[in-house]
Formats: sequence, C-alpha cells, structure tokens
Amino acid sequence: MTEPPNDVLASYYRCRRSDQFIDSFYELFLATSPAVAVKFQNTDFKLQKLMLRQSLLEMLCFDRGLDGTEEEIQRLGRRHRELDIAPEMYAMWLDSLCTAIEQHDPEFTAELEQKWRVAMQKSITEMIAARE
Ligand code: HEM
Repeated sequence: MTEPPNDVLASYYRCRRSDQFIDSFYELFLATSPAVAVKFQNTDFKLQKLMLRQSLLEMLCFDRGLDGTEEEIQRLGRRHRELDIAPEMYAMWLDSLCTAIEQHDPEFTAELEQKWRVAMQKSITEMIAARE
C-alpha cells in the first residue's frame, strides 16, 4: 500500500474552507469547452456540487489505499461511461481542478499541484479503465 503524503489532504481541507471552491471548479470546467458544458445542461448543481465534494474525498482515500474505495471509484467510472464521457475530458477536469485549488488554497505551490495531479490521476486511470 502506498502512503502518499498528507499535504494533498491538508490542501483539500484548506480549499473547503472557502464556500466558493467547488463553484469555481464548475465555472472553470464548464468554460473549458462547449462539449463539456452541454453535458451539464440539465444538471441540478446544488446536488452535483455536494457529490463532487464527496467524490474528491473518495479519490483521496483511494489514493491512500483505503479498503472499499476502489469499488466506489469503479462505480463512478461506470456511471461516466453511461453518461458517455470521453476519456480526453478527464484532462480538462484535472486542469480545472488544479486552477480552482490555486485560487482557493493560500498555501498553493507548483510542487503541491504536482502532488494533487498524481493523487487524482490514480482515480482517473481507474475510472477510465472501468469503462472497458
Ligand atoms: C475524476 C473526475 C470526475 C469526478 C470525480 C466526477 C464526479 C461526479 C459525480 C460524483 C457525479 C454524480 C454521479 C452519480 O450520479 O452517482 C458525476 C456526474 C456527472 N459527471 Fe462527473 N466526475 C468526473 C469527471 C467528469 C468529466 C470529465 C465529465 C465531462 C463532461 C463529467 C460529467 C458528468 C456529468 C454530465 C454528470 C451527470 C450530471 C447530471 O446528473 O446531470 N464528469 N460526476
């Protein structure tokens, strides 16, 4: 089991202190491409934002190798296959997340961003693999 450092988790909780963190993420993500925005045209964002908060935590737990989290990430991957989300869109998702973190974590650094990317990529790879 890998033991990733705590700094990504600490950064997540600093970001969460700001009510605007998840709002910023969706603003950035929806602006990346009309192909992304169109997917969310019927979305209840109040619920969606809560679910994202929850799934970010699940991804961080998966990164730490916690029991039971792999199934959750795979479920999320299958759900996104049903939603017909192209694998390329995950790169836009991750870029938007990193920009939102930069905006909301007062202790953001380029090195921290790299750690976030590695941690999130583990779940993204699992989600894309669960599509097959
Ligand atoms: C690792 C990255 C991602 C995470 C953690 C994530 C998280 C979530 C979660 C938790 C849900 C709710 C699932 C449910 O209904 O049970 C969801 C729904 C959705 N996601 Fe993602 N997502 C990711 C990537 C993407 C990408 C790249 C797109 C591309 C546009 C996308 C589009 C959607 C859409 C359209 C929905 C359904 C919204 C609705 O119900 O109207 N997601 N996502």
